Amino acid sequence: MPTYMGKCPKCSEFGTMEEQVIEPEVSAVAGKAAKRPPSVFNSTPQRITDVQADNTTRLQLPLGEFSRVLGGGVVPGSLVLLGGDPGLGKSTLLLDVAAMMAKHHGQVLYISGEESLQQIKLRANRLGVAEKELFLVTETSVNVMLKHIQDIKPIFVIVDSIQTCVVQESSSAAGSVSQVRHSAAVFQELAKSSGITVFLVGHVTKTGTIAGPRVLEHIVDTVLYLEGDQFHRFRLLRSVKNRFGATSEVGVFEMEAAGMTQVTNPSEAFLAERQANAPGSAIAVTLEGTRPILIEIQALTSSTAFANPRRTANGVDHNRLLLVSAVLSKRARIKLFDKDIFANVIGGLNINEPASDVALAIAIVSSSKDRPIHADMAFVGELGLSGELRAVSQLEMRLKEAAKLGFKRCVVPRLQGKRLKSPPKGIEIIPCRNIADVMAVALVALQ
Ligand SMILES: Nc1ncnc2c1ncn2[C@@H]1O[C@H](COP(=O)(O)OP(=O)(O)OP(=O)(O)O)[C@@H](O)[C@H]1O
Ligand SMILES: [Mg+2]
Repeated sequence: MPTYMGKCPKCSEFGTMEEQVIEPEVSAVAGKAAKRPPSVFNSTPQRITDVQADNTTRLQLPLGEFSRVLGGGVVPGSLVLLGGDPGLGKSTLLLDVAAMMAKHHGQVLYISGEESLQQIKLRANRLGVAEKELFLVTETSVNVMLKHIQDIKPIFVIVDSIQTCVVQESSSAAGSVSQVRHSAAVFQELAKSSGITVFLVGHVTKTGTIAGPRVLEHIVDTVLYLEGDQFHRFRLLRSVKNRFGATSEVGVFEMEAAGMTQVTNPSEAFLAERQANAPGSAIAVTLEGTRPILIEIQALTSSTAFANPRRTANGVDHNRLLLVSAVLSKRARIKLFDKDIFANVIGGLNINEPASDVALAIAIVSSSKDRPIHADMAFVGELGLSGELRAVSQLEMRLKEAAKLGFKRCVVPRLQGKRLKSPPKGIEIIPCRNIADVMAVALVALQ
């Protein structure tokens, strides 16, 4: 019980007492197990010209695709959330990254709340991971995790997953919004005050948001999202939010027995199994983040057995398919009302970019007329409701990628094609005003 003290109980003198404020040793949320590390936030105002910061402090990894998504390497003291559907390979990827960090930069602590040490070790054996500086622990209590971090003093911590973390101060169940938010706040404070980089794994709900909480997305510096499906080899690592680099940046990986291997030339990989002269196959040059990627769009039209013909989209937006089909019926007089249309993007990719409209449209035309498209031709352009081709972003970059992959011709929106200042060498630009122009140049003539 606090009481008033005027006279010193030892020397019986008045006015000799001094106030001493004892800072709480623990963070309010972290509980009593760990000491609060000294804060790195400087509350003295400084001129912006006097503040020192450079980009050379990023930690590089021999996994270019991963570094690229982070904006050019791992930023010390950053808090990163990796989300993705179950079983896509989040733990696999991060175990690989943990091993690389341990090999090149210092001690790493991998905390798992989901798997036993033996399970992780089995995975490590499969990936060929055996780094001395990589520590594993299975734990769900955040307070105990902080204690381990104090003991080991790692530079890099992985928490797999944030949904299993429990903060004692919060009485709700693990995985609840309150627990997830509390735990993330503890790791944020840890990262900012100690310079330790923390990666959190987060599960994703069916609606595609990172479970629990959109609030989590505000707390962390970077949100990465592993996309793909279990039945395809390719996985896309996409940055949804990044305080240290461009968003929508994409890294491409392939799931193999030995882990996630990076695909440094995705266009080549996506086109590897292409059958050049098959009707219904067109090449689109899409932009994923800052990187152009060539993909094959396939379409199949067949006579319908239903009153309402079906439109099935796999990898392309369903509404986009409806729009493109309607434009083709109305503006190009392609008879589609009695046809089922199936559209598919090869490799398990999802394409949301309107710039691939023209490729989708010409693939449908090609299938319905049963005439193949020239094998050396790629397509770029958004389709307007009048059937016109509309400008796209970063046309030069897209053309360069198409030329690099050996394409000799590329259909582009007319005005944009004409304004192009320095078209890349080795690729002929075919400016088209509308879908009828595209049909006139794209289809192989019937014998
Ligand atoms: N022996 C193996 N050979 C090839 N691939 C394997 C093997 N074992 C597991 N995999 C792949 O690894 C995937 C699981 O990876 P991982 O456990 O890293 O996913 P995760 O995203 O962490 O899943 P969770 O959400 O359940 O934690 C499986 O879907 C499978 O594709
Ligand atoms: Mg996992």
